[in-house]
Amino acid sequence: MAKSTTSFTCSACGAVHNKWSGRCDACGAWNSITEEAPLSAGPASKSLGGKRGRAIQLADLATEEAPPPRTQSGMAELDRVLGGGLVPASAILVGGDPGIGKSTLLLQAAASFAKAGLKAVYISGEEASAQVRMRAQRLGLEKAPVQLAAETNLRDILTTLETVRPDVAIIDSIQTMWADNVESAPGSVSQVRAAAHELTAFAKRRGMAVVLVGHVTKEGQIAGPRVIEHMVDTVLYFEGERGHQFRILRAVKNRFGPADEIGVFEMTGGGLAEVTNPSALFLSERDQPAPGSVVFAGIEGTRPVLVEFQALVSPSPLGQPRRTVVGWDSGRLAMVLAVLEARCGIPFTGLDVYLNVAGGLKISEPAADLAVASALLSAREDIALPADTVVFGEISLSGALRPVGQTETRLKEAEKLGFSQAIAPSGGKSAATTGVSVRQMPDLATVVGEIFGAG
Ligand code: TYD
Ligand code: MG
Repeated sequence: MAKSTTSFTCSACGAVHNKWSGRCDACGAWNSITEEAPLSAGPASKSLGGKRGRAIQLADLATEEAPPPRTQSGMAELDRVLGGGLVPASAILVGGDPGIGKSTLLLQAAASFAKAGLKAVYISGEEASAQVRMRAQRLGLEKAPVQLAAETNLRDILTTLETVRPDVAIIDSIQTMWADNVESAPGSVSQVRAAAHELTAFAKRRGMAVVLVGHVTKEGQIAGPRVIEHMVDTVLYFEGERGHQFRILRAVKNRFGPADEIGVFEMTGGGLAEVTNPSALFLSERDQPAPGSVVFAGIEGTRPVLVEFQALVSPSPLGQPRRTVVGWDSGRLAMVLAVLEARCGIPFTGLDVYLNVAGGLKISEPAADLAVASALLSAREDIALPADTVVFGEISLSGALRPVGQTETRLKEAEKLGFSQAIAPSGGKSAATTGVSVRQMPDLATVVGEIFGAG
């Protein structure tokens, strides 16, 4: 007799057991173990009632198909983050903290797509239709041909979408949706997953684009957007600092375009305004050159963006000095501090270090290393860099500076904004095409000695 290949899997934690039991040993859940028969053809498929799957038609990689037609909303910041416009039959997740402006952004987007000729439906599970209408009025969009509903019942929503046949549907938010075939409360992991799965499958089948709004949650009762990131084609996060009016829409995954692209908006009394020149905005709060302030010539997605790093270094009363970072990776800060100490003889022991990216932008480029190191040195030595200087370059553990990509784009942006000097790694492509004079530095110790006269 052939050995049985049936397995027993816990539906709660996914652990596989070789026999059924009432309680999963791995996670302790009760009644969660179910029998699973293998799907493959062969003797084992007897356990599936001898049914065989249908053979699938395989195809070549080469295709004659045209790239998907895209619709532009006319909001350039949004279109770029989407990879050039909205793709039909796609699912987009827009995540962000509560209150950051997701509903505002998507109502504006719905209106723009409607004006661009798409049939747009906006379904709110959080606000009454009257509230959404009031917001539309505030945004001056009450005339836009967007169809509105306040509903949370997924079955009713799908039936409605089936008859209305919109080109784009916005579901605000996925955590309020309720699928009646799933036995748990709205907002739970299984409800959020089921609702997202139904909506994305529907979108693919009907050629509709669906936008799911997901609240980022710290922890607790509501499932965050993370649990459905893998199901959708595009994941966008809407970020911003409280107290700042800047909002950044960042593509972290995009099957139809580049990831890491950002769109910059400003929250105003009349909704979100596009910021076409983010460098000017991020630097607008900068006044006189101050110790600890350094302008970094960065690249976000396909666009150069100049931002200001601010550092503060002060004697610490604590046994373990503080390392506080906003907008930059704290592990990376620790590395830069270690290199400054070990390779350049600049210790930060007994000193509190605060590092901040002005304007609420989050920077993840290694090219910012040198700007961070310069800000730290500038703060520690109390020496301000000249106001017309930008800095970029990656620092290696040896203290050497590595050239970074797109030097010319960075310098052009700097020139456009009135900067005339740059501190950058040597060995990079010489950018003689711009009017910015570049001081090329081989390693961090040279920067310490030549720029800050320390070490
Ligand atoms: P909202 O879009 O409701 O956030 P989310 O859907 O992410 O929870 O936006 C909430 C905030 O935006 C609210 O505090 C008020 C502010 N806001 C403006 O400043 N201007 C506006 O025109 C609108 C509509 C909202
Ligand atoms: Mg909302």
